[in-house]
Order: sequence, then C-alpha cells, then structure tokens
Amino acid sequence: MVGIAIIGTGGISKKHIAAALNFPKRCEIRALCNRDTTKAEKLCGEFNLSAEIFSDYTKLIGDPSIGLAIVCTPPASHAQITLDFFKNGRHVLVEKPMALTLEEAGRMLSAGRDGGPVFSVVSQNRFISGYAKLKSIVDSGLLGRIKFAQVNSYWWRGKSYHSLPWRGMYKSEGGGVTTSQAIHHIDLLLWIMGMPNKVTSTVKNFGHPDAEVEDLSVAIFEYDDAVAVFTASQLHHGSRSLIELQGEHASISWPFCVNANIEKPDGFPIENKKLKSEIESFYDSLKDIEYEPFTAQLDDVLTAIETEGQPLVSATDGYRAMELIGKIYRTAGIAIANR
Ligand SMILES: NC(=O)c1ccc[n+]([C@@H]2O[C@H](COP(=O)([O-])OP(=O)(O)OC[C@H]3O[C@@H](n4cnc5c(N)ncnc54)[C@H](O)[C@@H]3O)[C@@H](O)[C@H]2O)c1
Repeated sequence: MVGIAIIGTGGISKKHIAAALNFPKRCEIRALCNRDTTKAEKLCGEFNLSAEIFSDYTKLIGDPSIGLAIVCTPPASHAQITLDFFKNGRHVLVEKPMALTLEEAGRMLSAGRDGGPVFSVVSQNRFISGYAKLKSIVDSGLLGRIKFAQVNSYWWRGKSYHSLPWRGMYKSEGGGVTTSQAIHHIDLLLWIMGMPNKVTSTVKNFGHPDAEVEDLSVAIFEYDDAVAVFTASQLHHGSRSLIELQGEHASISWPFCVNANIEKPDGFPIENKKLKSEIESFYDSLKDIEYEPFTAQLDDVLTAIETEGQPLVSATDGYRAMELIGKIYRTAGIAIANR
C-alpha cells in the first residue's frame, strides 16, 4: 500500500485525487498540503477523504507513512519540493512542466537517477488510447519512415485564464501556451519522433494583452530526413488539435484517419487499399487503455513502485520536453533565464 501526499490542492489536484481513489488496495491519500489549508479541507470533504491536512510540505518529507508525493503546485516550486522528497527517499510524480527552468530540471534529473525512487512527470496524453495506438503504428513500421509531421496543439483560453497569480508571466508560469498546454503535444512528438536537430520558430501574443507570455507559437523542427511543423495556440476556436504523420508508405493522424497512396503509370496517386486496410486492422487489434488518462498514469507509476520498474514517462522525458520548448523560445528571440 503506497501512502500518497498531494502537495498543492488547486485545480489539477482533483484529477489526481480521483485517480488514486480507483486503486483502494494499492494506494491511499494520507495527506493533502496547501498553503491555504481551507482549500485542502474543502477537497477532503468533497472526496470524503480521511487525509491529514498540512500547510507546510516540509512537515511531510520524513513521514514514513508517505511513499509517493504528487506535486501539484505552480511550476516555480516543483524543483524544491521534488528534491526535498527525493532526499528522503520518496517517489515523486510531478505536474508539468517539471520545473520552471531547465537548470532546475537538470538538478531534478540528476537527483532522480540511478535506481533511486520512482520519478515521473505528468504527461497524461500518452495514456490516451488514440495517441498510444498512433505510436504503436509508427513503431510497427507499417508507415515506413516518417517524412513529415504536422502537430496542431490548438486550445482556446480567454483573458481571465491568467487571473491565477502565477499565470501569465515567464518568471512564474515558465511560458505561455507552448509550456502550459502544448507541452503535452511536445511530449507526444518527442515520444514518437525523437529530438529534432534544428528548430526555427516564431512566438507571439495576439490575444492576451494582459499576459507577458505567448498565446501562439509556430515552430519548424528538422530531423535528419524529416520535418515537423508544430503550432501551439490559445487562440483556436473549437480547440481541434491534430497529429498527422506522413510516412513513406502511408499517413496516419489523430483524430484517427489513414491514407495510403501508390502511383498510377502517370505518377498520380491511387489508393493503396491493401495497406490502408492492414493499418486499420492493426489499429483495431490494439487494446484500448483501461483507465482515463490521469488514472492510467497513476497506475503506471504505482506499478513502477510495486515492481521496482520504470514509469512510462521518465524525468528525462520531462527534461527533454522543457529542452525543446526552450529551443522554441530561444530561436524566436525570447530570452528567458535558464531556458
Ligand atoms: N496535466 C495537466 O493537464 C494540467 C492541467 C492543469 C494544470 N497543470 C499543472 O498543475 C500545476 C498546478 O496547476 P493548478 O491549475 O492546479 O494551479 P492552482 O493555482 O489552481 O493550484 C496550485 C495550488 O498550490 C498551492 N501552493 C503553491 N505553492 C505551494 C507550496 N509551496 N506548498 C503548498 N501549496 C502550495 C496554491 O496555494 C494553490 O492552491 C501547474 O504546474 C500546472 O501547469 C497540469
């Protein structure tokens, strides 16, 4: 039984509490910590928890009943809280972005290496069946080498989205849409295609004049023999995100769609029905992930703890996502300390 402490009981903590309640035989929420304890008390009531309430997480770091800290505070405190729990041999699941700066993320990575406690970064989209299936199809080789990827990380946020005190500034949020929302798609792209060799980008704020951070970024990622165009936006009505991967033999995308062409004698395309149906059958043969994404990621972290294994989303993955986002800012000429 893994005792859980949730540090930071604002908006996202509810997802983690609800996730933990799915595994009553494997974990128990024993502590909720928030600077303003009334928020934690409210959540205790809402979820009918018998957890202890704390305002200072340092009171918990040596508590032997706590095995896993789930860090849900704003980004500026992720590094310190994570490192404090690590020092005491506790497992950590930290919300994205894993830190405010790459330098902090690097220190967290070093502390989490070498068979120590389990360290995972929240990236729940890897546990969405559609994305996981996309990755399996790419890994199957059915598409051939990926030549081009289009990733539209489209969201819509109004101006009052930045009303939380830590949002809207690079020094406390770490970035705008690229860091706060599109990091999920950045992680998926890195998972599927790896780190590009070269990044060029433009970063703008067109719709949120009260915020310092960006609400739009467009980047081109160059690989040895592939290119990806990545757009992160908080301006997109309908928030219709897309991942489309164009391989040598066929393309797939999420929302799910397969296309496969071969050429007619004149070079124009006709559908490769055989390959299309092979890819669709492969997709249908893949199992859906049993849980909703936050629950599935907690299941993965608990399994890593129980088996002394590795979680699907490692600290290195969290670091690489920040590294690539840092390159998007840098190549657009946005100077942010330690990014
Ligand atoms: N995975 C996702 O899809 C997702 C979605 C939303 C937010 N997030 C991430 O979760 C984190 C929190 O976001 P949120 O929207 O819940 O923020 P929030 O402001 O609603 O909640 C954060 C809470 O942490 C408390 N807090 C701050 N510092 C603290 C400390 N040192 N000790 C104890 N409590 C402290 C604050 O009082 C606040 O109540 C951010 O990193 C954010 O990017 C992730």
